[in-house]
Amino acid sequence: MTVIEKFKTMEYGPAPEDPKESLLWLDRHQRRFGHFINGNWQAPIAGKYFETNDPSTGEKIADVAQGSAADIDAAVKAARAALPEWQALRPFDRARCLYALARQVQKHSRRLAVLETLDNGKPIRESRDIDVPLVARHFYHHAGWAQLLEQEFPEHAACGVVGQIIPWNFPLLMLAWKIAPALAAGNAVVLKPAEYTPLTALAFAEICQEISLPAGVVNIVTGDGSTGEALVTHPDVDKIAFTGSTEVGRAIRRATATSHKRLSLELGGKSPFIIFEDSDLDSAVEGLVDGIWFNQGQVCCAGSRLLMQESIAQKLTRKVQDRMSTLRVGPPLDKAIDIGAIVAPVQLERIDRLVKQGIAEGATCWQPEIVLPSRGLYYKPTLLSNVHPTSVVAQQEIFGPVLAAMTFRTPREAVELANNSAYGLAASVWSESINVALDVASQLKAGVVWINGTNLFDASCGFGGYRESGYGREGGREGMLEYLEPVWFKKAPPLPTPASSPNAEIDVANPTIDRTVKLYIGGKQVRPDSGYSIEIRGKNGRILGESPLGNRKDIRNAVEAARQATAWSKTSAHNRAQVLYYMAENLSLRAREIGERLAAAVGTMQAGEEIAVTLTRIFSYAAWADKFDGAVHNPPFRNIAIAMNEPIGAAGVLCPACVPLLGFFTLVLPLLAAGNTVVAVPSETFPLITGDLYQVFETSDLPAGTINIVPGRPSELLKILAEHDGIDALWCYGDKAICCTAKALSIGNLKQVWTNEGRQIDFFDARQGEGRWFLEHAHQVKNIWVPYGE
Ligand code: NAI
Repeated sequence: MTVIEKFKTMEYGPAPEDPKESLLWLDRHQRRFGHFINGNWQAPIAGKYFETNDPSTGEKIADVAQGSAADIDAAVKAARAALPEWQALRPFDRARCLYALARQVQKHSRRLAVLETLDNGKPIRESRDIDVPLVARHFYHHAGWAQLLEQEFPEHAACGVVGQIIPWNFPLLMLAWKIAPALAAGNAVVLKPAEYTPLTALAFAEICQEISLPAGVVNIVTGDGSTGEALVTHPDVDKIAFTGSTEVGRAIRRATATSHKRLSLELGGKSPFIIFEDSDLDSAVEGLVDGIWFNQGQVCCAGSRLLMQESIAQKLTRKVQDRMSTLRVGPPLDKAIDIGAIVAPVQLERIDRLVKQGIAEGATCWQPEIVLPSRGLYYKPTLLSNVHPTSVVAQQEIFGPVLAAMTFRTPREAVELANNSAYGLAASVWSESINVALDVASQLKAGVVWINGTNLFDASCGFGGYRESGYGREGGREGMLEYLEPVWFKKAPPLPTPASSPNAEIDVANPTIDRTVKLYIGGKQVRPDSGYSIEIRGKNGRILGESPLGNRKDIRNAVEAARQATAWSKTSAHNRAQVLYYMAENLSLRAREIGERLAAAVGTMQAGEEIAVTLTRIFSYAAWADKFDGAVHNPPFRNIAIAMNEPIGAAGVLCPACVPLLGFFTLVLPLLAAGNTVVAVPSETFPLITGDLYQVFETSDLPAGTINIVPGRPSELLKILAEHDGIDALWCYGDKAICCTAKALSIGNLKQVWTNEGRQIDFFDARQGEGRWFLEHAHQVKNIWVPYGE
């Protein structure tokens, strides 16, 4: 065909990227890779290898070591041994290592991009222009955090040895998201890449050698889920960071619940792509192409649910179909290909099965008439319309080039539909009205919201989910905090297991004395459903009163009240501060009387101190309420990203036994200051103290339902709170056993659990008992990306 003829048809010619350099690199390694442990290549101890294949042809690329528990153990030992020297380096020296990694990634960018495309099937255009540049940017950005570590995170220390498990959809990028902050914070890592896509992690291992990164700081062990499991259960790992399916995330949470390991999870999503009638439809359609057909739709934050305003649905659907017909599906090394190959046969089958299920449930399926290559794993871009919001294709992550479309009439309906998901990773909002877009963004339950844009990422902006999309952030300051801990907390002694409670259960029908405290639910004092109380004894064994024995029904009522008390999160931070100041004022008016009662339980000296510190602590959080601001990030695009600190929702709190008044306020106040509502189980030793607080709350203008208090047997009530899907966050203070129970029982809705890990916190010391560390856990960050310019 002549140029003139081509010009007439505008047909694409082939434009293959040259893979020679990457193939030479593979050959240099004899296409057989061991693990990268302690700075060297090591053959797997059990001698097993597996194949990694090119999904666009089905051909084998190389053999890769199958990691066993023994390999993981060797890698963890190497990481542990590397830590002292790595941490003894000056921040400047660690920063230089990260900087050198960034430079070297840039130097090998072509090799890395081609390898990624060969192993994963993604278009070279994406691996070359998106994945690899973002990888370099991540290391550059974190070289900066390494340099500023001591100034920006004073009195913080690295977690230690970090186990990192990553998926196959962005193999090198996920590696960078994990390794860069971990190293910047001074950790050593053992990373397990996904079994379908290990090659770029191995190429990165070689880069670590090239820049002379100290041996053992980065270890790469390849293998499948069993290798990941060995890493998760290894006793000498201090933190696990995981990205992948929600199902495996749950399994990891279960496996780590009985340990001290910190955990961050970046899981699946079913992100809404909301298009309002006033949006620039052509731009929105282009956005949609990036939203759902980028990386074959194998993107955790893919805009897989299209929500169209009804008035434009027909017109928009036609435009989307027209654009779909121009998408080019084919060999991913071709530079003019839009959609490459699906990563593995099992993934292709999964996509096909889910689409068929969607059609069986009533969806209409539309695919363009394009011809797929005769070999390799390809799937046509697919539009499912008439999708019912409860249908499997509207609720489950398909992880393929499949868009499920629905309509809405009003912004309110759009928000309801968008939030009708167990997930909460990302969302796109398209409207020319900035007011509408920002208003909708603020109501979406998602960690990232892109306005008139989609799939924008930057190392300076935290990325991560709400709800079952996981917790923890990658990128920016929040991302660094995932790999750091307060120094004092690392050294805190274990909390002794308290002797079993001396308080006996009694039938309230026969009260022995008249001082029976009630539950506090929805702003009202109510009797316990069980009808039973517990006799509370003081230090000298004297009966001080009776505390109700709350049960499942009481907790259910309290959770409902907490969920309905939405006024608290909506009110201004200034108002929240005013209520807290007022609370301090009202408590101080009754300080003497409360102090006397508390003294009977904990002694005069402790009671006096508890009251005094509680009053200052309330003042502290009243002060913080309107000062724990978010940030505005400046990513290197024509966007700002507004990082908003948002409340998590309804929080369950298990209060410490030994510091009845101060312990209650220490845990409840940061949650309140952040705008959460609370269901608290007060101190087992002296729950009666909360009875004195009801009036304080009532006279302080605290909206009904903001604080709910259910006294009872803490271990029983903790179980109910942990298993309750209406509770979004659980804070638990207790011995190791209690903390493990809190983590193990809350796997259902993957609620965010924060415990003292069985360690002792000195509540009387402001450095330990209040401030940013608490507030960071009381919030979740939402990044709203707002474009500017024409
Ligand atoms: P996966 O969650 O099984 O794999 C992710 C990583 O976890 C891999 O490195 C794997 O080897 C490892 N792994 C598997 N089982 C493990 C265990 N018990 N303990 C520790 N590590 C373990 O994801 P998979 O099977 O590759 O894909 C299944 C589905 O998951 C996809 O169809 C998609 O819906 C979803 N997915 C979501 C991702 C996301 O970023 N949100 C990424 C990959 C998959």
